[in-house]
Amino acid sequence: MGAFSTDNAANPLYFAPPSPDKAHHMKPNMLTKIALLLWVVTIAVFVWFFIRGNTAAGTDGRTAVVLQIGERDFVMKEMRGLLAATQAILEGVNQGNAQLIANAARSAGMAAATDANPTLMTKLPIEFKQLGLSLHRDMDDIAKAAESGTPVPELLKMTSNTLAKCVACHAAWQIKASL
Ligand code: HEC
Repeated sequence: MGAFSTDNAANPLYFAPPSPDKAHHMKPNMLTKIALLLWVVTIAVFVWFFIRGNTAAGTDGRTAVVLQIGERDFVMKEMRGLLAATQAILEGVNQGNAQLIANAARSAGMAAATDANPTLMTKLPIEFKQLGLSLHRDMDDIAKAAESGTPVPELLKMTSNTLAKCVACHAAWQIKASL
């Protein structure tokens, strides 16, 4: 405030207003307030979308997450990757090969979740993101467990508990593509 106060004629940096009409001069501290307000509003809108996502009533009683076609394709490709990883975990079990189980689970782990872009992230509702992230975390846990010699029945139990999250998410949401 000090550097901007108007009764500061003694200050060599003080620039006297050309007209005495102060109404035309927006005080810098007013601008600061407006900038702050805009900033707060922007953050609030972002938080609102981050929590609510971009949703609409679905066609079958579920809630639809509304995405652009390219975003939908991205999510669906990730989904097919999850199905492939699930199949590969079971194949590892069939072969009694812990390293195969670990590799398959890790392919669906947190590292697979990091390439989603921020716009897409704001469109996914918070519960959707939480469920998705907890699924990726589980997959990393399964990978670690397989590598540290956890018996196969225990790995299958972990996998079954994790697949319950696929089921829960599919029961609640569908994806609708918009242009
Ligand atoms: C956080 C939510 C969520 C989780 C967790 C989730 N999915 Fe999905 N998945 C969806 C949604 C939403 C769709 C689209 C459903 C629709 O539009 O009817 C979908 C679609 C799919 C599809 C169809 C893909 C296509 O190309 O048509 C497959 C396969 C799939 N999921 C597999 C899985 C598997 C396997 C898991 C668990 C290992 C899983 N998903 C976990 C939300 C999820």
